Amino acid sequence: MTPSLKTIFAGLELRNPVIIGSSGRSSKADLNKRLEDGGAGAIVLKSLFEENIVRRTAHLTDISHASTPSAHSEQADYLQGYMRDEALREYLDLIRKSKQLCTIPIIASINCFSLGEWVEFAHEVESAGADAIELNIMSIRTAKEYHHGDFERHHIEILSAVNERTRLPVIVKIGANLTNPVALVERLYAHGAAAVVLFNRMYQPDINIERMEYTSGWVLSNESDIATPLRWCGIVSGAVPQIDIALSGGVHSGAAIVKALLAGASAVEVCSAIYRHGEEWIASALSFVGQWLEAHGYRTLLDARGLMCARDLEYAEMLERVQFLRYFENFS
Ligand SMILES: Cc1cc2nc3c(=O)[nH]c(=O)nc-3n(C[C@H](O)[C@H](O)[C@H](O)COP(=O)(O)O)c2cc1C
Repeated sequence: MTPSLKTIFAGLELRNPVIIGSSGRSSKADLNKRLEDGGAGAIVLKSLFEENIVRRTAHLTDISHASTPSAHSEQADYLQGYMRDEALREYLDLIRKSKQLCTIPIIASINCFSLGEWVEFAHEVESAGADAIELNIMSIRTAKEYHHGDFERHHIEILSAVNERTRLPVIVKIGANLTNPVALVERLYAHGAAAVVLFNRMYQPDINIERMEYTSGWVLSNESDIATPLRWCGIVSGAVPQIDIALSGGVHSGAAIVKALLAGASAVEVCSAIYRHGEEWIASALSFVGQWLEAHGYRTLLDARGLMCARDLEYAEMLERVQFLRYFENFS
C-alpha cells in the first residue's frame, strides 16, 4: 500500500507536507492555483508588509509636512488613508480569489515589526476566508541600549494581540537570530501559537568591491542552508513536542523533506526550490518521500515524524554540538 503523506500543521489537515512559503510566487491567485495543481499541501500568501504600507504613503506625509496650509495636510491624510486601504483591499482580494480557485489551505502572511493598528486587520483576514495567519516577525536589533529579552517579549505581545482579534490558527515564523529558540517557542505555545516556522530567510547583504556599493547577496537558498533549521527543528521538537513545526530554509529535495520530518517537523515551507524548478518540483520531491517511507516500512508520514529529534539523548548530543574539534581532528 502506498504510504499516506497526510499531515497536520497548525490544526489544518494537509494532503502532504509541502507548504509553499511566502514569496512573490504566491502573490497571485492564478499562480496559487498552479501550485495547488502541482501538488502543494498548502500555500502561504506573499506577506503584506507593514513596511510597504508605510513606504507607499510616506512621501505624502512629507508633502504635508513641507507645506503649512492645513487643507494640504488634510488632503495628504485622506490620500494616505486611501492608499493604505487600497493595499489592504488588494490583499483581502488575493485571499478571496485564492480561496475561490484553490481547495488546499490558504494561509495569509503579515510581516510585522510593531504593535500598530495593522493588528485589527487580522479580523478582516479571517472574514476574507483565510485558513490561518502566519506572522513574520523577523528583524534584527542593533541598539546599544537593547535589553536582553525585549525582542522575544515583542513576539509574545504581537501574537497575543493578534490572537485576541481572530479565531484563526496563528503561526509564528521566526528568524534564526535568537539566543534560544526553544525558550521562545515554549512561550509562543503557552500564548496560543498554533505552530511555528523555523526559520525565515534574511535578506543577504553583499558588497561590490569595484563599485564600492552594497548589493544583494544570494536571494535563493541552497541545500547546505538546511543545517540551522534542521538543528533547531530537532531540538525544539524534542523540547516542545506539543507545537507543530514547519522547517523552512534549504529544502531542495525529497530527501530534505525526509530529514525535516525525522527531526520533528510536520511540514516544510519551500520557496527557493519553487523559484528554481517551478511547481513541477513538488511532485518529484513528494514521490521521493513516498518511496522512502515505503522502503523503510512506514505506512504514514506521521509514523516517521520526530524519530530523530532531541528527545533521544544520542540525537540531542549531535544536534547540540557546535564545536568542530573532535569530528575534524583529522580533517585536511
Ligand atoms: C524572493 C523571496 C521572497 C520572500 N518573501 C517572503 C515574504 O514576503 N514573507 C515571508 O514570510 N517570507 C518570505 N521569504 C522567505 C521564504 O518564505 C522562506 O521562508 C525562505 O526563503 C526559506 O525557504 P527556502 O530555503 O526554501 O527559500 C522570501 C524568500 C525569497 C527567496
